[in-house]
Amino acid sequence: MSVATLEIQELKPGFGAEIFGVDLHQAAAADRAAAVDVFQRHGAILLRDQKLTPEDLETFVASFGHPEDHTLKEFTLPGHPKVYILSNRTENGKPIGAHNDGVGWHTDYSYKAEPVMCTMLYAVEVPPEGSDTLIADGCAAWKALSPEKQAQLSSLKLHHSYQHFMATRQYGARELPEEIKRANPDVIHPLIRTHPANGRKALWPSTGTVIEVVGMPNPDGLELVDELVEFMTREQFVYRHKWKVGDLLMWDNRCTLHTGTLYDDTKYFRTMYRLWARGDRPY
Ligand code: SIN
Repeated sequence: MSVATLEIQELKPGFGAEIFGVDLHQAAAADRAAAVDVFQRHGAILLRDQKLTPEDLETFVASFGHPEDHTLKEFTLPGHPKVYILSNRTENGKPIGAHNDGVGWHTDYSYKAEPVMCTMLYAVEVPPEGSDTLIADGCAAWKALSPEKQAQLSSLKLHHSYQHFMATRQYGARELPEEIKRANPDVIHPLIRTHPANGRKALWPSTGTVIEVVGMPNPDGLELVDELVEFMTREQFVYRHKWKVGDLLMWDNRCTLHTGTLYDDTKYFRTMYRLWARGDRPY
């Protein structure tokens, strides 16, 4: 199959790409493959004005890799276990999705041995203000560090813990059932990650799941992580996405951090579908 050439425009200089002229509901396999190619080179892709069924979303995410399961199953779309609902809506007094799930800078599944490669968010309904999603470019942040700082950071490793994250998170903190704890043991990942598709290095810290820099006692270790997250999420490295219904945004978790932002949930509803494609062991 030949890879089509797509019309694109960077989301911000040097990072991300909006893809034009592709309707994912009926896209040819060659167009989907071309979108994957753009994604691998740009760190994030955006396609606007899409009208997609859950099956369309499943087909598209499968172009990137094996669709990944969700740690918690309660908010998956009925009949579509790979589609996770983010929402502040309730039905019959029960939430239909996780609310404010992605608020706080992080990279998805960082608490797994093989974190997800990409995250896909599809906007079903969005508030007219607030609820932007921000994506920070870890490659640009890495390149902006001095050679001395790069040398100091190169071999550091971070200890990530799902249990810690779920016990301490600002929104949705909870005690986990024993089987979920057993299925999610702590993991160690490099602070500087190499992208397997393009060889580029990225600063790859996170908040929430990180409990220490291996071999560096706290508070120094966590202060270093905070310093690096603050650096990487400066405006110069960040793309801010303002949502419209029908937007499909995907980012590469191997070289970015992202965060959701708050909105007035007493006035507005926000419902998004989230899908993941499986990743590999960071190095
Ligand atoms: C996420 O972090 O997975 C979701 C971000 C958002 O809701 O904007």
